Amino acid sequence: MTDAAPDRIPALVHALPKAELHLHIEGTLEPEMAFAMARRNGVKLRFESISDLRAAYNFDDLQSFLDLYYETASVLRTERDFHDLAAAYLDRMAAENVRHVEIFFDPQTHTSRGIAYDTVLDGLCAALDEAEADHGLTSRLILCFLRDRSAEEAMAVLEAALPRLDRIAGVGLDSAESGNPPSKFEAVFARARAEGLTTVAHAGEEGPPAYIREALDLLHVTRIDHGVRCEGDPDLVARLRIEQMPLTVCPLSNIRLRVFDSLADHNIKRLLDAGLLVTVNSDDPAYFGGYLSTNFIETQRALALDEADIVTLAKNGFTASLLPAEKKAAHLAAVDAAYREFQESHGRPSTA
Ligand code: ADE
Ligand code: ZN
Repeated sequence: MTDAAPDRIPALVHALPKAELHLHIEGTLEPEMAFAMARRNGVKLRFESISDLRAAYNFDDLQSFLDLYYETASVLRTERDFHDLAAAYLDRMAAENVRHVEIFFDPQTHTSRGIAYDTVLDGLCAALDEAEADHGLTSRLILCFLRDRSAEEAMAVLEAALPRLDRIAGVGLDSAESGNPPSKFEAVFARARAEGLTTVAHAGEEGPPAYIREALDLLHVTRIDHGVRCEGDPDLVARLRIEQMPLTVCPLSNIRLRVFDSLADHNIKRLLDAGLLVTVNSDDPAYFGGYLSTNFIETQRALALDEADIVTLAKNGFTASLLPAEKKAAHLAAVDAAYREFQESHGRPSTA
């Protein structure tokens, strides 16, 4: 176990180049920004103040979070809103030394309120392009279907997105998991793959290991989002290891949504030690108490991750990304170089 100076781990987490692969852009809506947008758009929130809204960030499960998350998203109305939302997140990520992000967005959350798909996409893309120009921060967009709505509606969303697929790297599946298995979206995902899109899916967050199997076998995903409930099926865990199927794990989210009782009970270290390709992500950081670096730091503390674990997790973020092989290799070399430099300036970790 490391016996580090108190600021050593935060300094290490900062020093390492990082990627984030599981981030819902609507989940970066901080209460301050929600109120500012509500004001400028003439939208009435049922909360009196920013602190009242923040006080409501106390969830029993995924559904109780989703109810508030969709309600608050009602303040997002204009291209400028989507731009400002993404720009604030991307500026933060640049400041945290994050070099690449793969961002989920939920068109149905907005189109069902009468907001045009192009309004959402234009706002997000403007911010992504600025972040790459200003900070060298690269990104991909992943269009998510809301799994608690019909497969027909998801197919219509995909068809509406076809004219501008150049800005979309893949499709995903999010929202209420229980009772909405991946099999419901088999035809939509087949169509997405036929259009050249990568597929990912939330599976095994609250749902059973069988949903992870369906995501693999029926949706042919390249990553599983969450996946932490795989341990209920040891053969599945072995398969995830053998196939090096990435799991985009979101530790603070899992605590706030009560998937685990506490970070000390989280299985990310066990899965890492078992040889699975796990990554650290923030999911909906405005709601769950921390952005990417905080997820790394708090997980390290709770589970006594050593520095090699942190370096592996940072590298896994790039390995599991949708970047081309040569870009991945460059990022992986940059992580190794950053850790060597860190050890030169901070010394080697002391061991107890
Ligand atoms: N949408 C936003 N965050 C989500 C999560 N953690 N699970 C499912 N759907 C989501
Ligand atoms: Zn998620």
